[in-house]
Amino acid sequence: MLTELTDDPVKAAQFIRKGEIVAFPTETVYGLGADARNPVSVSKIFAAKGRPTDNPLIVHIADKLQLLEVARELPPFAEALAERFMPGPLTLVLFRRRIIPDIVTAGLDTVGVRCPQHPLAQEFLRAAACPVAAPSANRSGRPSPTTWRAVLTELEGLLPCVLKGEQSHFGLESTVVDCTGEMPLVLRAGAVTLEQLCQVVPSTRLAECNAKVRSPGMKYRHYCPRVNVVLVNSPQEIPMELSTRSAYIGLVTPKLPLQKTVVCEGLEDYARQLFEFFRECEMANVEQIFCQTVEDRGLGLALMDRLRRAAAML
Ligand code: TXA
Ligand code: MG
Repeated sequence: MLTELTDDPVKAAQFIRKGEIVAFPTETVYGLGADARNPVSVSKIFAAKGRPTDNPLIVHIADKLQLLEVARELPPFAEALAERFMPGPLTLVLFRRRIIPDIVTAGLDTVGVRCPQHPLAQEFLRAAACPVAAPSANRSGRPSPTTWRAVLTELEGLLPCVLKGEQSHFGLESTVVDCTGEMPLVLRAGAVTLEQLCQVVPSTRLAECNAKVRSPGMKYRHYCPRVNVVLVNSPQEIPMELSTRSAYIGLVTPKLPLQKTVVCEGLEDYARQLFEFFRECEMANVEQIFCQTVEDRGLGLALMDRLRRAAAML
């Protein structure tokens, strides 16, 4: 299949209208979309990604007013979260309407819904004029793409169209919050922090160990580059004999010269650069990637989740 590149969101949306799949930019990572109401279209996402069918997809809407088109109820605390963080990098898990078929939700009675704030994503969703199911636009298990080039590296020839945008602003996926219980439960840490959620709904909690059951996707290996990832508390832990064939990303500058070094300005910068750095390391054929750990709070919680998964520690 020929993969067409376009910067026209209306043109990209025509593929959705025709029942095809399209990759598009969002402020978190690039998504791979299809008409969420059409099971045949959605099945093309699973085929292109090689994704297990028991892992549900997030449904994207152009406006939060459409929440109740795909979900059958919006508890007051979910409404408060939507009011504050939508559009934005937040996914709410709500009880679904039947307009969303089983293939999207992996047969669950719930649906994850997100309203991206990225202007191109908004225009694309408006022109598609339907809810768009979209996971990250990578082959299953791989790091999420944060540039259109990374989408091509992952999926060229497996999809008919990629909508080109800038590098994703956050570089980490949305925060997934289960709103089907008494209080909000964070199933996947992401670009909206637990502290920010608690400012709006103080009872918000992390789902911790039962997250594996609640968010089926979290049981699979994720975000793994083809190069071995090792976590270090400080660049001083990098063994000298490995340094010339290794790469490092973190907040502290290493004293040793390495094959590749990225020193980030802060947590936001670290999150934004991480997945693209993994891809550059693959292309540069480094032998291992050392990543500096950060504190498990604020954006650091999402960053450490991705780092631990990339290092196969989760
Ligand atoms: O930022 C993002 O969320 C990106 C962009 C494209 O929107 N999307 C994304 O999708 O990261 P994906 O498929 O890579 O991850 C979706 C996560 C998975 O862990 C999945 O299990 C969980 O959300 N999820 C989706 N629907 C769910 C549901 N109904 N209940 C529980 N978890 C759900
Ligand atoms: Mg993904």
